[in-house]
Amino acid sequence: MLLADKVVVVTGGAGFLGKQFCAAVAEQGGIAVVADIDAEAAARVAEEIVSAYPGHAEAAALDITSHASVSALIAELMEKHGRIDAVVNNAYPRNRNYGRKLEDVTYEDFCDNVDSHLGGYFLMAQQFGLAFRRQGGGNIINMASIYGVMAPRFEVYADTPMTMPVEYAAIKSAVVQLTRYFAQYFKGDGIRVNCLSPGGILDEQPEAFLQRYKTYCNSKGMLDSRDVNGSLLFLLSDASRYVTGQNLIVDDGFSL
Ligand SMILES: NC(=O)c1ccc[n+]([C@@H]2O[C@H](COP(=O)([O-])OP(=O)(O)OC[C@H]3O[C@@H](n4cnc5c(N)ncnc54)[C@H](O)[C@@H]3O)[C@@H](O)[C@H]2O)c1
Repeated sequence: MLLADKVVVVTGGAGFLGKQFCAAVAEQGGIAVVADIDAEAAARVAEEIVSAYPGHAEAAALDITSHASVSALIAELMEKHGRIDAVVNNAYPRNRNYGRKLEDVTYEDFCDNVDSHLGGYFLMAQQFGLAFRRQGGGNIINMASIYGVMAPRFEVYADTPMTMPVEYAAIKSAVVQLTRYFAQYFKGDGIRVNCLSPGGILDEQPEAFLQRYKTYCNSKGMLDSRDVNGSLLFLLSDASRYVTGQNLIVDDGFSL
């Protein structure tokens, strides 16, 4: 068991990657806190995990863009468990216009999406970082993306409605740098801060896109949502005890 009895908060825990992360934490003996703005979905995910791993998941309502909501979650978990071992900054807030091509992105939408996603990741890392400092240590993992470190390969999206949103590049590159900032700031407080950058994850994308994407990869191409679990568990566990301020890229070589 890599995470025996560790309390691990996963924001966006009811989402596509989040629910796999929560199940992986529970499987390794941790207590996964499925923290999501969609409280009903979080309850469903927690219930499913608990049926396989009794006592190893619980749901929490959380809005990462609300100081009151973040503080309330920290207080509630401290009261219940006495400590919080780790937080995975994994929620994916975006407004209804998110994902448009560059020409169609308004100033307001750009700012709104950067606000909620990057601002929310900052708020979570700040508040959990301070709580971790008070308790004498903790572990923060920020979900970034290959598009935080490489220029987009727009050619893979040709003839599909998909694109790599300009907000995403701004947000995820900033998340990588925030990770270094927080790791440096909390040095000496027993706090590690790293980020995890997956490449594309299979989710019913058009076949032509998948084929083009795969030509840049080592073997598999787009990954399954479970393929990122091993790297997350490494960063959460003591196996990575002396790793801090790093960005672990899991993309089957796409960004090389
Ligand atoms: N899916 C991919 O291909 C991929 C690739 C690389 C990186 N990532 C990153 O992984 C993370 C998760 O992505 P995903 O694809 O699972 O997203 P998703 O949309 O499936 O899930 C995101 C979850 O976040 C929740 N959420 C939204 N706003 C919130 C808020 N304000 N507070 C709390 N929860 C909120 C949603 O309810 C949802 O359950 C994101 O950071 C994303 O950028 C995803």
